[in-house]
Amino acid sequence: MCGIIGYAGPREPVGIVLEALSRLEYRGYDSSGVAFFGKEGKISVVRASGKLSRLAESVQGMTGSPGTAIGHIRWATHGAPTEENAHPHRSGPIVLVHNGIIENERTLRRELVGQGYSFSSETDTEVLAHLIHRAYREEGDLARAVRKGLSGVEGSYALAVVCEESPGELVAVRKGAPLILGEGEGEFFVASDVPAFLKWTRRVMPLPPEVVATLSSKGVSLCRLSDGLGLPAVFEEVPWDPVQAEKGQYRHFMEKEIFEGPRAIMDTLEGRLGEENSRVFLPELVRLGPNPTEIVFVACGTSYHAALLGRLMIESLSPVPVRVEIASEFRYRPLRFRRGAWVIGISQSGETADTLGALEVARKEGYLTVAITNVGGSSITREAEATLLTRAGPEIGVASTKAFIAQVALVWLLALYLGRRESPDVRDSLAALVRSPARMEGFLGAVDRDLIDRLSRQILAARFAIFIGRGIDYPLAIEGALKLKEITYRPADGYPGGELKHGPIALVEPGVLIVAPLVDTRLRPKEISNIREIEARGGTVITIGPPGSGAEDPVPTFILPVSSEWDGVFYASAVLQLLAYRAASIAGNDVDQPRNLAKSVTVE
Ligand code: F6R
Repeated sequence: MCGIIGYAGPREPVGIVLEALSRLEYRGYDSSGVAFFGKEGKISVVRASGKLSRLAESVQGMTGSPGTAIGHIRWATHGAPTEENAHPHRSGPIVLVHNGIIENERTLRRELVGQGYSFSSETDTEVLAHLIHRAYREEGDLARAVRKGLSGVEGSYALAVVCEESPGELVAVRKGAPLILGEGEGEFFVASDVPAFLKWTRRVMPLPPEVVATLSSKGVSLCRLSDGLGLPAVFEEVPWDPVQAEKGQYRHFMEKEIFEGPRAIMDTLEGRLGEENSRVFLPELVRLGPNPTEIVFVACGTSYHAALLGRLMIESLSPVPVRVEIASEFRYRPLRFRRGAWVIGISQSGETADTLGALEVARKEGYLTVAITNVGGSSITREAEATLLTRAGPEIGVASTKAFIAQVALVWLLALYLGRRESPDVRDSLAALVRSPARMEGFLGAVDRDLIDRLSRQILAARFAIFIGRGIDYPLAIEGALKLKEITYRPADGYPGGELKHGPIALVEPGVLIVAPLVDTRLRPKEISNIREIEARGGTVITIGPPGSGAEDPVPTFILPVSSEWDGVFYASAVLQLLAYRAASIAGNDVDQPRNLAKSVTVE
């Protein structure tokens, strides 16, 4: 969704805002804008449609006075991605940027038009600007005006607001959409995500929902949106390394993040394994009481695929039954799980509206809820009773790669935690998990890039790519297809191998490419039968797996290291990610910011 940045401090702010926006570009990228105070104390608003580079061209040579400035990068929801609809929006002295959706926009707009306000955009945001302006005329104070202006607003919002009549002050507030405060040396930031200001400070505080923050170069004060009651501001240092939010020697964040997979696993395991790696500790779960009678995972997209792998892991290592649900479907169904079930939301960003909504419904129905997320302090951590953090570091590429790897490592840890410690399967599996970061590192270090390129070209040349897999390979297949679709825009789909003959095999003819991960050794013979069926109908097949065991077992097109089944998931995922990545780069696509997508989907 959209990205917001606000700055309050003694430096020239336009450069800071633009740089911060470039780190939020992954959130939305159809238009952008900045508002800053010019020499005469007037606010200048500059907006541009298209990529951020267009805005950078428009503000070239402009400087703002030290004090406050705000910026925005948009992913259109209300109104086309034009310059008029780009943020910031203005009403009198009030200028603001917004992320979210105002649900009663039409009613409010009608009311405001009746009172003489005119609109120059189709956005719901302009309604907020007018509401706060109207309140400011009565209150004469920005923070009070924001509180009053928002009192009748329904929906979700994260806002950063400045006022021409109080240049050193910036007010931020959120409900639903995320905002993080940053505390630097005599300067303060507010942004939709930490990487925006990570270069300048690691001291952060997630702004709680329905709390108003007033920022100036002197400090931050907080109060409740409802009644203005003051609250303390407590900043903490995030462990994220600013270099993780830079591309370094890589051409794209996605490529860099694929190669950060091993580190994501290692950091996710850190401190969670006992002496000599003999057992798993997840102290975050202790407050939930005894182990669950059932686990219900809810998630979207790639996180849903991690949940599917989690089900297989937990069911094979522990007695706990598991269901996996797509969050957007789950939230509108009656919930009939066992008493004592845990509903676990998996979300890289911790801000996905559907996953948050699903957990909220589950909590209201009396189930214990757990969050698995990569972002400490994100909305999901507030919604759930317990949080397990993946530690992939900031993921900037829109297509999830290292965060998925970290999610798989975490659900694997969870499976081991729920399993019987004395069981040889659990012991062996733990040993494989512990070994996996080094093995993945070795594998990626020596990965055959020429072969990846050749296969990527083959994928691009195909009319349609079908990814198939059984058992462990099924979630891998649908994840591989998703990666390919989202960044190459090529038609691709994923199916359980056994389902092929119930319909999709009708698509197979020369020119159709099949991609088959072969990590599941138990089901490999059955997968190979499916592959034979495809070959018999003229389809071309790319297989990805460890070397086969017998004469009947074909040598995979892309050979992975021999693995215990689960660590094979890491190697195969990396290959599938690299194939999609290379295919998209060869096709000349914007890999890190694929069209129509946003990194965190904070609307339904
Ligand atoms: C695909 C991708 C998306 C996300 C999905 C959920 O590469 O990144 O499918 O996985 O939007 O996002 P989170 O995990 O932030 O809830």
